[in-house]
Amino acid sequence: MTTTKVAIVGASGESGQSIVNALLDSSTPKYEVTALTRPQSIHKPVNTKLQERGVKVVPADLGGPSDKLVELLTGIDVVISAIYFDNLDEEIPLANAAKAAGVKRFVQSALMIVIPPKGKEDNLHYFQKIRLPYTYIDTRWWYQLTLPRLPSGRIDHLLSPTHKDLPIGFDGSVPTALADLRDVGRFVARVIADPRTLNKRVHVYSELYTQNKVYEVVEGLSGEKLPRGYVSEKEASTNIDNARARLQRIRRKLAQSSHLLLLSCSNLGDLYPDFEYVTFEDYVKEVLDGKVKGVYQG
Ligand SMILES: NC(=O)c1ccc[n+]([C@@H]2O[C@H](COP(=O)([O-])OP(=O)(O)OC[C@H]3O[C@@H](n4cnc5c(N)ncnc54)[C@H](OP(=O)(O)O)[C@@H]3O)[C@@H](O)[C@H]2O)c1
Repeated sequence: MTTTKVAIVGASGESGQSIVNALLDSSTPKYEVTALTRPQSIHKPVNTKLQERGVKVVPADLGGPSDKLVELLTGIDVVISAIYFDNLDEEIPLANAAKAAGVKRFVQSALMIVIPPKGKEDNLHYFQKIRLPYTYIDTRWWYQLTLPRLPSGRIDHLLSPTHKDLPIGFDGSVPTALADLRDVGRFVARVIADPRTLNKRVHVYSELYTQNKVYEVVEGLSGEKLPRGYVSEKEASTNIDNARARLQRIRRKLAQSSHLLLLSCSNLGDLYPDFEYVTFEDYVKEVLDGKVKGVYQG
């Protein structure tokens, strides 16, 4: 059986680790994984662990000389970027090198719900313009970031130090699509092996939930009553305008995206009806039983 060679940028990050786990677990096809990490990250403990699991970890300066990047990508079948969302500019030299090296599929760091064009969409247009074979994978909102804080504080250790409960959009009745971060990588591994998804935008998710239902499930399973903070459509729009006007670049992006989330809604698809995903209820049970780890803990 042939082995598919994958190079991944951001393998040390949250999405990247989920993707690498799935690639290493896959038997059909088998994947050989190279992680391209920033030179300053080469000694990160997570990279050492990746190496111990058979991943080739190599330093790569995406803003550096292009011939070095082309050399790194020569012989690679699929490039996946799971880069930090504020460093999307670096996908441009990566894509140019992938094109020059003859990479067969480029997966950008989309991995998100639909957010109005900028950044990710601009990059997609560039990849299409240079005729780089691509797949844009929209993976929807993680359960891990959907979980509201419990008043008892019993799941605080799973939440990132900057965690803020997402306000409830409008009256909380708009359905949106969710997936467990652990399933995101499994979806990606499946999509990149699927010839139907070449040069396509793909939407993958596990369950449709309204925010009201999220709160009901968490309350039902935890036995705790959760406070609810609502944001009207008008307030969300005003917050976006205020964020645009007031905040500096990085903070502005963060503030805008959390409000834009509330304005986005989901699309449906059924590429993989046999996919066995973690349900939101099972995820919450695992959380309450102390069986899962949190995100952005480092
Ligand atoms: N669907 C959702 O719910 C959801 C939630 C969160 C994020 N996302 C999306 O998933 C994608 C990846 O995000 P993530 O949160 O998984 O990534 P992350 O953990 O924040 O970072 C990914 C990797 O990017 C690399 N990187 C390059 N430049 C960086 C910089 N200036 N600062 C920090 N890291 C940098 C790092 O790898 P090296 O150090 O190895 O170079 C890092 O480990 C993004 O497109 C994001 O929008 C989706």
